[in-house]
Amino acid sequence: MKFFIDTAEVAEIKALADTGLVDGVTTNPSLIAKSGRNILDVICEICDIIPGPISAEVGATDYETMLAEGRKLAGLRPNVAVKVPLTPDGLKVCKALSDDGTMVNVTLCFSANQAILAAKAGAAFISPFVGRLDDIGQDGMQLISDIVEIYAQYPDFTTDVLVASVRSPMHVTDAARLGAHVVTMPASVLRQMYQHPLTDKGLATFCADWAKTGQSIL
Ligand code: E4P
Repeated sequence: MKFFIDTAEVAEIKALADTGLVDGVTTNPSLIAKSGRNILDVICEICDIIPGPISAEVGATDYETMLAEGRKLAGLRPNVAVKVPLTPDGLKVCKALSDDGTMVNVTLCFSANQAILAAKAGAAFISPFVGRLDDIGQDGMQLISDIVEIYAQYPDFTTDVLVASVRSPMHVTDAARLGAHVVTMPASVLRQMYQHPLTDKGLATFCADWAKTGQSIL
């Protein structure tokens, strides 16, 4: 299972890169706006920190402009995955860029049928948004289960299920249980995954007992 970080904050990515657990990064127009920085600069910097796929989303919604934007973003670095919305034009762009050999991440997926279309369009990644479905009283994880099951029926589908809009470590556990290929999460969720009070308590005891031995391993 791969871990992507869902952020456009370069400092945050640098700090997490040291964990050795980050396989890629996803950004979107809202995250770029929040960073207050130029998208091209941010994407290049992130690509130079993390060698895995870095999703950079187009800003337009019409086919011609999205295709031109996608080609420009893909030309920045070889590890850019161009992110396009799950619309008829977005999927046409997905097919064109995938045929060029560019990784495409199809975003804003909220149904299994949309995920089937993205796989047929050659997407490298499909991004179902679990948190936003949960927010409106639908079961986000059921959608992941459906997509994983459907994709498994068709060996010619090479699209990875990238669980997005993750809000808690439980989403990560559930996605892993279902066999999702990738989870993209805020940095705070990755940090929360390390935490357990019994780990802290147990370590405090071990440290105290070790000190009593007066030994040194080095
Ligand atoms: C995924 O690629 C999106 O950037 C992201 O996961 C959206 O999450 P949100 O619903 O918390 O905005």
